[in-house]
Amino acid sequence: MTGATGGIGEGFAEVLAQRGFNVFLISRREAALQELAQQIEAKNAGIKTEILELNCANATAADYQTLNEKLSALQNLSVVINNVGLNTATPNELDSMTEEEVDGMLSVNARFTTKFTKLVLPILKKRDTSVASRAAILHLSSFSGVFPAGLMAVYSATKAFADAFGRALDTELASSRIDSVSIVAHYVVSNMSGFDRPSMSVPTATAFAKTTLNKLGAGSQLIPHWHHDLMARIINLLPSSFVATKTYGMMKAARRALLDPERQKKRAARRKDAEAKKAEERAKILASANAKKST
Ligand SMILES: NC(=O)c1ccc[n+]([C@@H]2O[C@H](COP(=O)([O-])OP(=O)(O)OC[C@H]3O[C@@H](n4cnc5c(N)ncnc54)[C@H](OP(=O)(O)O)[C@@H]3O)[C@@H](O)[C@H]2O)c1
Repeated sequence: MTGATGGIGEGFAEVLAQRGFNVFLISRREAALQELAQQIEAKNAGIKTEILELNCANATAADYQTLNEKLSALQNLSVVINNVGLNTATPNELDSMTEEEVDGMLSVNARFTTKFTKLVLPILKKRDTSVASRAAILHLSSFSGVFPAGLMAVYSATKAFADAFGRALDTELASSRIDSVSIVAHYVVSNMSGFDRPSMSVPTATAFAKTTLNKLGAGSQLIPHWHHDLMARIINLLPSSFVATKTYGMMKAARRALLDPERQKKRAARRKDAEAKKAEERAKILASANAKKST
């Protein structure tokens, strides 16, 4: 999976490993990849991990070649999670976005995802179907991809791309028994969403990953979390112009909240606490795995 070292990607990595899958983790930070891989192997006896440090924003021909070699060498690649995605730190007007922000989002959310999917298709098709009769490619879309959000125009458009891309491919891949599924999420706890605590409407990344995997097979577009699904059903009953105006208003309110210095301080403190807790838990898992090995 891409974008594996945090948020939803990390949730998928953990849950897939719990369910007996070896995992191949791709992200930019090598140290974070190594820590996650160690944690997964320590928690899940017999599970193997591989890592690849890659910046998906500027992947070169040589990077795609490396990806191809490494993924082709895996035995029975059967689940691919197109998870990596960029957004701006705060909702913003198009003309206030930097060139780097626009390029980053288009490159990672659309270009890399497309080329990566093209690269994995022949590998998925070559899997041993007696071991993995079905395969799946998941594409992380978003509410903003299906209900366009002002102040997030570029992000919205790239997530609409992910939705259409995933669903269109599904028809092409039916005869290869590969499900290509657009995963539509509202907020999930992660750095990108800014939510650091779960609630009824904001699941943790692992809860989101579990529900998503449990519901695969239910079509080429999935809104895995029950609360998100309910919201989407209600929104679909409303006039789209009303929804667009309301969404824009919510984005303006979100921007005000994100730029509020007091809230920023509180959020930074909570994030620091959460990271310290995560490091402590990881150290405990590794210590207990090492103790088991030495007995
Ligand atoms: N969280 C939500 O509420 C939500 C809602 C709807 C859709 N989504 C979608 O779900 C996906 C995951 O979101 P998230 O909230 O989990 O994001 P996140 O918390 O920002 O995590 C992103 C992950 O991607 C990696 N990454 C970022 N830029 C990269 C790059 N250029 N090359 C390689 N790896 C990169 C990061 O690790 P490194 O820093 O180590 O590279 C990190 O592991 C995205 O596609 C997002 O659009 C999220």
